[in-house]
Formats: sequence, C-alpha cells, structure tokens
Amino acid sequence: MTIAYLNGKFVPLEDARISPMDRGFLFGDGIYEVIPCYEGQLVGFQRHMQRFDQGLAAIHLENPMSDVEWQSLFHELTSQNQGEYQGVYLQVTRGASAVRNHRFPADCQPTVFAYTFNVNAPCNGDPATATCYRVATAQDRRWKRCDIKSVALLGNVLHMMEGVDAGADEIILFNEQEELTEAAACNVFIVQDESVITPPLDVEKLPGVTRNMLIDILRGQDWRVEERAISRREVTNADEVWLTSSTKEIAPVIDIDGQSVTDGKPGPVWAEAQSLFARHRFSA
Ligand SMILES: Cc1ncc(COP(=O)(O)O)c(C=O)c1O
Repeated sequence: MTIAYLNGKFVPLEDARISPMDRGFLFGDGIYEVIPCYEGQLVGFQRHMQRFDQGLAAIHLENPMSDVEWQSLFHELTSQNQGEYQGVYLQVTRGASAVRNHRFPADCQPTVFAYTFNVNAPCNGDPATATCYRVATAQDRRWKRCDIKSVALLGNVLHMMEGVDAGADEIILFNEQEELTEAAACNVFIVQDESVITPPLDVEKLPGVTRNMLIDILRGQDWRVEERAISRREVTNADEVWLTSSTKEIAPVIDIDGQSVTDGKPGPVWAEAQSLFARHRFSA
C-alpha cells in the first residue's frame, strides 16, 4: 500500500480525495517535481526546490512550505513507503474554488499532494545494466513556456504517444528552425568528436535538474561541454545521443527513427559520464 500526503495528512493513496473544482483538475493550474530518493538520500534536493520555487513564482503561487518542511515531509513519506529506490512526486495546485473562472480566485487554499513510487536501481555506467532508448522524432508543438514544470502536460503526453505509436520509447523534438529542443519527458545531449553538447536553456525546454547536475559534474572533471543550438542533422550524425531525467539519470539512445546510433549500443562516453554521475550524484 502506498502512503500519500494530502493537505497536511498522511493517507493511503487510494483514499486520497480532492475536489473536482480543484484548478489543477480543471486548468492544469499547478506545479510539480519528481525527486529521486536512493536508500533514504534525496538526489538534487536543493536544485529541485529552487526550480519548484521558480515555477510557483512564474504562476503567481506562494510556496506553502519552507525547504526544511519539504525535506522532512519527503523523509517521512519515503520512510512510510517500501523500497530502497523511490521517486518522490510532489505537486501544488492553486486549489478549489466554488466557481470555474479562468481568473485566479481571491480566496483559494492550495492543494498540496505528494506520494512516492518505486524506481529502478540507478546505473553505475555498466552498459550491461543500462536501460537503452529507441526514439522517434517530431516537430515540437508544445506551448512557449516549457521552462515551467507545469502539471498541464497534454502537449508532452501527445508527443509521447506519437513516439509510442511509432514503436519508440520516447520522442525527440525539434523547433521550427529544425533545432533540437528536448524529449517528451527528458532533456537531450549529443556527443560529437569528444564534445558533449546540449541545447541552451530557454522557454522551449525544461531546465532539467539532471541536465544541470551532469553539466556541472562533467565540467568539474575538465570535460568540454557546449551549450548551443543543435541541428537535426547533428543529432542524426552524432556519435552518441543521451536522454537525461531524474528517474533515468543518463540514458543512452540506441536508435532514432529506426536508424541505429553508431553501432546501436551504449557508447563509451556515456559509460564514463554515467559512472561520474553515479559518483557525484549526492554532492553535485
Ligand atoms: C519535458 C521534460 N524535460 C526534461 C525533464 C528532465 O528534468 P529532470 O532532470 O529535472 O527530471 C523532464 C522530467 O520530467 C521533463 O518532463
């Protein structure tokens, strides 16, 4: 049984109830985060909380708790739930009001929800234990505030299903200039001629915590990491392509639109990068 947290109480997930007038339900009016917790230790806690604050500020919602309160809530929740490797999901919506109106209501109590789910044990860079991804590609048709980690994810959901319907596990997206943005639920990196390259952050991409941790870890080891526009051609011709997210860390892409990436196996640069990430994930 999963224990969830809802508005101040720990309850079995199946008993957690919210109002159908909740603006998260009606408008997708809320912000969320997913934070890994391995053997009781949160990964990237400060970075996740900073992005959460930025998302809440962007939609004019106050953070209902301090970082210290969030941290103790996550520790309580992960200890009440089973599993050495968990993901903590948290979301705050603007809450329920009596009237459905696009305008923010004046008198709304935010809805605060968190629960945990089991994730795979993280990889230490051994290709034998890597989860590899086959991806499709498409033009990015989402809105122009993809930098906000909003619960309004229909654009991402539809892109993910485009990938799934094409027989892939994820989908890599390109803007109207045919430049790489991100994937439906991940950021994207390529490796070309020993350089690790990822697109710069802007309103077309989520500022991924894993992305930013990885850049800092690699630069800390004197790797060359470029943040610049990447054309579709560069993605197709890359030596390696990676997806990054909190629950995947760094995942090798082995196939794009039915074409193998290099020899269709996790590459040597990925193995080194994931192994470095594993070594530094709690300190980055
Ligand atoms: C659209 C999108 N981009 C990137 C990411 C990766 O972000 P993070 O590394 O913070 O999990 C996610 C994660 O859910 C995502 O949904």
